[in-house]
Amino acid sequence: MVIVKDEVWDRLIYNSQRKRSEWNGNAGIVDGITPNELDRFLIKVDWLHTQLKIKRPYKILEIGTNYGSWSWLLYNTLEAFELETCDIVEESRDEILWINSYYKKDWVKFHHLSSKEFLIGRSGDLVWMDGNHDEEWVKDEILWIQSGGSKEVWVDDWNWEEVRRGVLNSGMKYKVVEESPNKDVAILRID
Ligand SMILES: C[S@@+](CC[C@H](N)C(=O)[O-])C[C@H]1O[C@@H](n2cnc3c(N)ncnc32)[C@H](O)[C@@H]1O
Repeated sequence: MVIVKDEVWDRLIYNSQRKRSEWNGNAGIVDGITPNELDRFLIKVDWLHTQLKIKRPYKILEIGTNYGSWSWLLYNTLEAFELETCDIVEESRDEILWINSYYKKDWVKFHHLSSKEFLIGRSGDLVWMDGNHDEEWVKDEILWIQSGGSKEVWVDDWNWEEVRRGVLNSGMKYKVVEESPNKDVAILRID
């Protein structure tokens, strides 16, 4: 993927370096805190970009909006999509409004909700699961996603022990069908 270093990119880098405390220190897939982080990110984003191009999901859900890195990736990868995204931090709303207005589209809708409330009655062609990384929460979340009927889930930070344990011990019906090169994302699917 040719990384599009537009004004959104600059804002993501700025937020990751200067404003991550607004999200309690949580950063997104665009994380410029150190050159090392950015290199790791580039490998992951490149892989995500390829997967998105192959699968072309249209209706997408995201748990954990943060400062909007996933929205930047979708706007620079897919010709058409609808993203519904949620975060418990209200500042995410301003970031999404800014990103939508930059691309002159309204394809991203932000909800100031915790994943539990957000997932009730919602499904997508793809769920990007990247919110609370505690084992117990992850375990519940994967089951809420499953009961909503989404067939495919991409789990970020798959190399975190708590995330992996939460997913694998949840009793879910999804199968792990693919892992990213650094094993930091897993693709789960129910056929
Ligand atoms: C790692 S960041 C998400 C990065 C983003 N998805 C991306 O692709 O760049 C995790 C985010 O999850 C949010 N979060 C934590 N617990 C949550 C919950 N229960 N429901 C929704 N969002 C949550 C945090 O506020 C934080 O912004």
